Amino acid sequence: MRISRSPGLLITALMCVASAAWSQQADTSQDAAQTGGEAPAQAAGQAPAQDAALDPGLAVAREEDGRYFNAEDIPTFNISEDGTVDWRTYSGFRRYHAECHVCHGPDGEGSSYAPALKDSVMRLDYYDFYGIVAGGIQHVDAGSNNVMPAFGTNVNVMCYLDDIYVYLRARGAGAIERGRPAEREDKSEAIRADEDACLGA
Ligand code: HEC
Repeated sequence: MRISRSPGLLITALMCVASAAWSQQADTSQDAAQTGGEAPAQAAGQAPAQDAALDPGLAVAREEDGRYFNAEDIPTFNISEDGTVDWRTYSGFRRYHAECHVCHGPDGEGSSYAPALKDSVMRLDYYDFYGIVAGGIQHVDAGSNNVMPAFGTNVNVMCYLDDIYVYLRARGAGAIERGRPAEREDKSEAIRADEDACLGA
């Protein structure tokens, strides 16, 4: 399956479904997670950086103007031997700490309020991750007060969700340490153009 290269289209599509259908799905995958139904991918989360290349889900199969994809065309991170991170990983660090950190804790580590997203992204698939962030998680039972908001109409999140995703995957794979990555690749013209289009600039 190929993903849309046009963030605008993807976001429009997500916004259309960011209601009942998604909350339903999000609840289902939550349930599966709690019963361990989607656990197998977890082992990859423990892989040290140098082994990332061995995991087809994490390994770079293709590069396009500073953006990296795995064999299934899902965005992935690229960390050079000297520790230089690709632009999206760096951007994801910043966006995560602007939008998600307050509930999910620093560096994707989790908090008493919300789960460790560095682990969630090793278990959830890319599309489920998008669906949850766009649609939020609504609880049908009255027991839980913890709320995952819907970000589907927030361009400061949705236009950078690939960045947040690859950053969290790099954290989950152990490919980068906690804290701000010291060295990064430059932002390519293509990434800049995509962002502008998504933000409507
Ligand atoms: C207001 C607090 C809050 C903010 C801000 C927030 N979240 Fe959440 N998030 C939660 C809570 C609470 C849960 C757990 C919901 C549940 O399962 O009951 C959650 C769950 C999730 C899940 C599902 C995790 C899993 O293991 O199933 C994902 C994915 C997620 N959040 C992504 C994000 C991202 C990405 C951001 C930033 C763009 C973000 N969240 C910002 C509170 C928040």
